[in-house]
Amino acid sequence: MVVRTRVNGEWREAEVWPGSSLLSLLRDGFGLYGAKNACEQGECGSCSVWLDGALVCSCLVLAGQAQEREVRTVEGLRDGTQLHNVQQAFVDAGAVQCGFCTPGFVVAVADLLEKDRNPSSVTIREALSGNLCRCTGYQKIVDAVNLAATRLQART
Ligand code: FES
Ligand code: FES
Repeated sequence: MVVRTRVNGEWREAEVWPGSSLLSLLRDGFGLYGAKNACEQGECGSCSVWLDGALVCSCLVLAGQAQEREVRTVEGLRDGTQLHNVQQAFVDAGAVQCGFCTPGFVVAVADLLEKDRNPSSVTIREALSGNLCRCTGYQKIVDAVNLAATRLQART
């Protein structure tokens, strides 16, 4: 089957097996490798993207469900050569080690801060509860969220 979807503002289409996931469509069909395939069971958040503005695990969404819909991925966050505020905060806070989980965390944090510019520590932990990291121990990731939130608030 052919799936046509709007990805990061651009209409794309690719031929996929009907049982393919949205994650597979993004990676194998469109060459967008930001969303990672770690568990393929909805447990780790490494494949997080937005589908019509809602945060989803793309490994749990069929490619066909993205037909004629809007998908936003971590690749869509950067503005030209300028990193997104959340991406920059992850770099500055040292919240990246192997980096495999990072795109999923960045998407989850960007989603959180689009809804709440001043999240409490409980809200942050809750928002990130669907994302697993095997390297950082999470504290630096929480530091990155606070840094991104502080910079966001300073802009307004
Ligand atoms: S790869 Fe989708 S949640 Fe882990
Ligand atoms: S930085 Fe390695 S899994 Fe998170």
